[in-house]
Amino acid sequence: MRICKTPDETRDALKNESAIAFVPTMGNLHAGHVSLVAQARSRGGTTVASIFVNPLQFGPNEDFDSYPRTFGADCEKLENAGVDFLFAPTEREFYPEPQTYRVELPGIQNQLEGRFRPGHFSGVATVVLKLFHIVRPQVAFFGKKDYQQLMVLRNMVRQLALPIEIVGGETVRDGDGLALSSRNAFLTPAGRAEAPRLYRALGRAREAVLRGDADFSAIERDAALDLDTNGWKTDYVAVRRQSDLQTPLPGDRDLVVLAASRLGTPRLIDNLEMTREG
Ligand code: PAJ
Repeated sequence: MRICKTPDETRDALKNESAIAFVPTMGNLHAGHVSLVAQARSRGGTTVASIFVNPLQFGPNEDFDSYPRTFGADCEKLENAGVDFLFAPTEREFYPEPQTYRVELPGIQNQLEGRFRPGHFSGVATVVLKLFHIVRPQVAFFGKKDYQQLMVLRNMVRQLALPIEIVGGETVRDGDGLALSSRNAFLTPAGRAEAPRLYRALGRAREAVLRGDADFSAIERDAALDLDTNGWKTDYVAVRRQSDLQTPLPGDRDLVVLAASRLGTPRLIDNLEMTREG
């Protein structure tokens, strides 16, 4: 695996590669990231990953400074997973001047995650657009774990006519259902034991929808109550349609239930897709 530091070096290293499959990350890699790399590799072209903890997507009171940075271990995982090139710039290399030009998003950026993380998706879209211009992939892989991020990036690529295929990878979970996340490391032992409740609450919400219950507000309230009576502080539980994360209309079949909740300091997010009978 070749490690490139600057955008120029990366562009130069990749200039003769035609079929690039790309997996952007912020490092502190786990099996979820590695599964995206495996999917990228299966395309048979050149596999490129990036590690960059992007300050633009963290709010002033968020965990940018404490975000776990484990570069040595990450390199070993990427190397073992068969990555050909890793782009790992420093902040100064990636943003040599203040990044004042930003991707501006539609109203969805202020809903769900966006409501609790103002500016987050603009920061994500800006860094990903810039990464795309440096790496120039044919296909890029993002996890369904960050469902709204995947939707925002899919729509950005479509609306801006970028010649890049966006693939959503299934969420990788621990045996008890907890979605893998870098932020799980901040859970206390008691918190770790409690954490799978989020997945179970989403599972029950999905069952209710699939049983034909159309009172989504009640389903959302029940799930939030289950969490909050067990020590969580829930930001939202929401049943939405998959395509644009708007409130489902009666005919919409492809739905997703999404949630974000705090368990002590760590804030966990998760979601489950479902298709109801037409
Ligand atoms: P990061 O949180 O490092 O995640 C990198 C990719 O791994 C994202 O596409 C994310 O959805 C995916 N991922 C995380 N946990 C997963 C899991 N348990 N199963 C499957 N995939 C999982 O998301 C980001 O970085 C950043 O916002 C980024 C897109 C790199 C832009 O800075």
